[in-house]
Amino acid sequence: MKKFAFVFAALISFSILKAQDKIIVNADLGTTTINKNIYGHFAEHLGNGIYGGIYVGEGNTKIPNTAGVRNDIIDALKKLKIPLLRWPGGCFADTYHWKDGIGPKADRPSMLNVWWGGVTENNSFGTHDFLNMCKAIGADPYLAANVGSGTVQELADWVKYVNFPEGSGPMTQLRAKNGQKEPWNVNYWGVGNEAWGCGGNMKPEYYANIYKQYATFMASTKDRPTFKIASGANSDDYNWTEVLMRDIPTEMIDGLALHHYSVIDWNKKSSATAFTEEEYFTTLKRAWKMEELVTKHSTIMDKYDPKKKIALVVDEWGGWYDVEPGTNPSFLFQQNTMRDAMIAGLSLNIFNNHASRVRMANLAQTVNVLQAVILTNEEKMILTPTYHVMEMYNVHQDATLLPTYLTAGNYENGTDKIQAISTSASKDKNGKIHISVVNIDPNTKHEINLEMRGQKMGKVTGRILAAAKIQDHNSFESPNKIVPVVFKDFQTTNTGIKFTMPPASVLVIETIE
Ligand code: AHR
Repeated sequence: MKKFAFVFAALISFSILKAQDKIIVNADLGTTTINKNIYGHFAEHLGNGIYGGIYVGEGNTKIPNTAGVRNDIIDALKKLKIPLLRWPGGCFADTYHWKDGIGPKADRPSMLNVWWGGVTENNSFGTHDFLNMCKAIGADPYLAANVGSGTVQELADWVKYVNFPEGSGPMTQLRAKNGQKEPWNVNYWGVGNEAWGCGGNMKPEYYANIYKQYATFMASTKDRPTFKIASGANSDDYNWTEVLMRDIPTEMIDGLALHHYSVIDWNKKSSATAFTEEEYFTTLKRAWKMEELVTKHSTIMDKYDPKKKIALVVDEWGGWYDVEPGTNPSFLFQQNTMRDAMIAGLSLNIFNNHASRVRMANLAQTVNVLQAVILTNEEKMILTPTYHVMEMYNVHQDATLLPTYLTAGNYENGTDKIQAISTSASKDKNGKIHISVVNIDPNTKHEINLEMRGQKMGKVTGRILAAAKIQDHNSFESPNKIVPVVFKDFQTTNTGIKFTMPPASVLVIETIE
């Protein structure tokens, strides 16, 4: 009896240290492309996101820049293969009048940024600056237009200013006068932001009408299309999606937005770095909620748009915590730890797996705001764990989604539990298969048995992001504490490979037949 108890105890403690999970990758069943725009970003005129972050201005700075945009940021975003950048907001967008941000900088009016701290916005970073920056980093621009406090005419003019050929009216004359003869041909347009809140506190029925009015005058031609994105639901406001899908004709809309932040409680967030395991668990539970949200919003969209013409655009997502001590509470400046790496890996797997409907997503926000990929301090710049996850995952951009089948254990917290493992897989145009796997469990290693179905498993390589603690992060003093490293500990099995995921880690595997 004593011996039996000992064996039983040993078995339990073994399972605490190591759980066993299974992933089946269906290498021959892919039909859907993972739109690269799932790996999009969002940069708002908020805190040190633009000013003091991306944009340091052309004069009076020692920081190397191109037309005022930091060269180190340009390089980092290029390396990230950033496909898309949303600008100028957020809540700021519905207070922004684009004509204030064109022409000689000295003549541009200053205003107060009423949403974000009441600081002075001098409009020195405007339409030309943003669109030229997008060219420099190789990203498609996504312009979020002012519906809440703007006019139909103002948006119609913005479309003409950036998209119409030279000589087609006063807007293109104005553009040429400001030094830009050729149009930029901007495809992606947001028609307002959070119309249910900071964008005007509207009811969905009212916004659907307003949307149609604005969209009608956003002139597009065959050569210069405008992909119009309606302001979408706040998290699980399914009625918002239902009404918009019902009231806006399919041919008038290309994308429907959704915003969801992994926040513990809007009235009681957590420190970005000094958080408890309880807070870690709750944040990750909120991140897992994205699976339910995209599933349910997609189901509503399927009812009205079975051919999936309209994309679900998750144009704001990420972790939201308390600001760093001593910083302006309106600037939303937060550090970025392994917890954020887990949110990123998990969310991107969810988006990949829903690629037939989710065709764009924008992490909030690129530099110095919320779950940023880059933090700056004067001339210093660091890449966050989130940056590294997005860089590791960029192999999925425009690849074919491979259906996966996962059986995984749970990460438990008291009586509550969430799935510990998440995965997605794709095959790129060169036949390389990439499988991204996340273990959000901070206490338990997970042994994964990966079976490759539909083709043989060839040579396998991997890169992993892991750290000793979930609170670990890169800092200006220690910028490379967390970086991806080569992972080689794969064992060959009859059907594929076996490997062990350390607690709280993100792994991207590459294999070719
Ligand atoms: O990303 C910060 C803010 O969060 C955005 O301005 C707004 O759209 C959202 O509520």
